[in-house]
Amino acid sequence: MTLVFATHNSDKVKEVQAILPDFIKILTLTDIGCFEDIHETANTIEGNALLKAQYVYENFGYACFADDTGLEVSALNNEPGVFSSRYAGESADSEANIQKLLKALEDVQDRSAQFKTVIALIQNGEKKLFTGICKGRIISEKKGSSGFGYDPIFVAEGSDLTFAQMTPEAKNAISHRGKAIRQLAAFLKEG
Ligand code: IMP
Repeated sequence: MTLVFATHNSDKVKEVQAILPDFIKILTLTDIGCFEDIHETANTIEGNALLKAQYVYENFGYACFADDTGLEVSALNNEPGVFSSRYAGESADSEANIQKLLKALEDVQDRSAQFKTVIALIQNGEKKLFTGICKGRIISEKKGSSGFGYDPIFVAEGSDLTFAQMTPEAKNAISHRGKAIRQLAAFLKEG
């Protein structure tokens, strides 16, 4: 079975390939010659995942899945959520996003937050969503240097380490994306 994963991010592809069964051949956007920017214009994480999968299905004719992730902070009405990558502005980097979040949470007692990943799969015209959630909290200063995005300030429930202090394997075992990918893998194995 061939499936397109609607991403150019080779780290994500490796992570997914390690979890999906061997009978599934993954093609990336680069592999199918899709170099256009798929604009993430939906206002929900689910909507953006669907929009990306649908774009590939409709324009390239491949069965496809796409993921979208956001960090939802309770004290901020679940912001930055769908805007996580551009919280501090359209071309903001992770450092700017982290600093904006730490500032917004200055003197805030409730530090609870969760990462949410939604994977949208479109096969034979049918859509299916898989959601992975990792609950935790935002600490008040950065710790650790691996990972990406908000990893240095997020500590998952049941852990004392930030995601940036964990090995990729330890993070994947409990992370939002790991959970969503394992649900996708279980579904594809059933079929
Ligand atoms: P994407 O949908 O996977 O591109 O994620 C959107 C944004 O959420 C990223 O740019 C990061 O800022 C943040 N993010 C997603 N996944 C993670 C993660 O595992 N750790 C930290 N930040 C993440």
